[in-house]
Amino acid sequence: MNILVVAAEVAPFAKVGGLADMAGALPRAWTKDGHSVAIVLPKYGHIDVDTYGITKVADGIAVPFGHWTEYATIWTCPMPGAPDVPVYFIESTEYYDRPGIYGYHEGFEDNDRRFLFLSCAAFELCRAIKFVPDIIHAHDYHTAPCMPLLKVRFRHEPLFQHCRGVFTIHNMAYQGLYDPARAMEFCGFPVEDFYHGSWYEQDGVFNCLKAGIMFADKVTTVSPTYAQEIRWTPEGMGLQGALQARSGDLIGVLNGIDPDEWSPRTDLHIPVHYDRTTIDRKDISKLALLRQFNVPESDLTADLPLVGMVTRLTDQKGIPLVLEVLEEFIEAGHCRFVMLGSGERRYESFFVGLAQRFPSRVLVGTGYNTPLSHLIQAASDYYLMPSRFEPCGLTQMFALAYGTVPIVRVTGGLADTVTQYDPITFLGTGFRFVGYNADALRTAMYDALRLYKRTPHWDAIRSNAMNQDNSITTCARRYVEIFGWACEK
Ligand code: ADP
Ligand code: GLC
Repeated sequence: MNILVVAAEVAPFAKVGGLADMAGALPRAWTKDGHSVAIVLPKYGHIDVDTYGITKVADGIAVPFGHWTEYATIWTCPMPGAPDVPVYFIESTEYYDRPGIYGYHEGFEDNDRRFLFLSCAAFELCRAIKFVPDIIHAHDYHTAPCMPLLKVRFRHEPLFQHCRGVFTIHNMAYQGLYDPARAMEFCGFPVEDFYHGSWYEQDGVFNCLKAGIMFADKVTTVSPTYAQEIRWTPEGMGLQGALQARSGDLIGVLNGIDPDEWSPRTDLHIPVHYDRTTIDRKDISKLALLRQFNVPESDLTADLPLVGMVTRLTDQKGIPLVLEVLEEFIEAGHCRFVMLGSGERRYESFFVGLAQRFPSRVLVGTGYNTPLSHLIQAASDYYLMPSRFEPCGLTQMFALAYGTVPIVRVTGGLADTVTQYDPITFLGTGFRFVGYNADALRTAMYDALRLYKRTPHWDAIRSNAMNQDNSITTCARRYVEIFGWACEK
């Protein structure tokens, strides 16, 4: 099958969150199964051509945009770890050659233009490189407009007449709300097709996510529980109606993780490798991490449990609950806490402030740091993820693979990946709580910490976690099955 992946983030080139991991890992898995895959993303200013050996393939390809034509340059390199997968970068100095992917907080003012251009350019790229896709796989609101573009503008063209569109929702919270006159014009859609109740419209504005949902042949989201939640609960963020309308074509596919990148047996960023039988070596990573954060020698002990988090600092991730409970655990000396995160400034300041007050108990990294994100998974005893909502979540799956016991709120993909440990049967992989409140989190943390290094539970829970298979292969094959159904339509 020929699959074109179009995304605003693709690891390792451009990453803010798990979208990038998935857009990078799925193509690698598909190519192993013999599919032909190409990836398209913008050539952002920070992407270093020398690091990845990126070269120019086509200069000045015409992209009809609105009533005019713009031009893009195409660059390419093989996907690291998958030489058969070409990655294509759309260069437009005006749109992408600036620091950042989305812009801070409110985002760049011209994000409508930037991402609608990306969707339009993806089709012209296929023409330029003579790639005939069976499937265009678009991710999140940024490239959702590929779905209506395929059905409205390109469906009669020989290159795309057999092509089907599959749209994957990674997060309902970001919808791409644009000015209708601009968006319809940029995409080359008749302006009169935008009206109250049309497939492009929600609350009077152009809604990229809704358009993706309505025009796609199949819609997927990143866990079975989230697929239910978004139809029937406020997690649908106002698009419950659209999702219910597409119920028959909406499928939850649980994300997976790439063992080539996330395995304690081979991880390049951790001081010592381990597996289930040598899991006690985690303490070596723990001590290395403590040293990295300049914890004084007198306090260098692996005996105090270490609770870790690697996260975007937003409400989604349940940070307000952490703010409420963390200090009492630290003050009482129940655990140490390590966090790597960036996002909302008020949260960054809180954690930095706490680290100043408890320098050897609260360890905080800000900014984006891939090596540290791996070390935290290997070094921590527990991984905290008290999300308010969570479409899937990858970091709890990394934690499971690294024998780091997750403490999670039961929502979305967290509900699908972490099971409650039962000290009677010795089954279960972590600790769960339901209510979104500090008391529930506190109880789960106490329950979890009580088990620390207690035989036989500590061995049982960690080996259950490491035994769980969350590999990308199963997930990638499920997508191919869905692509097949889309092609039958
Ligand atoms: P989300 O996509 O909602 O942020 P996920 O759990 O799906 O949540 O994916 C987050 C990804 O981003 C993981 O690969 C995680 O390791 C990574 N990540 C998050 N924050 C940082 C950071 N500050 N530095 C490095 N990696 C980070
Ligand atoms: C989103 C979600 C996260 C999910 C990721 C990859 O950013 O917030 O839960 O794991 O996408 O699908």
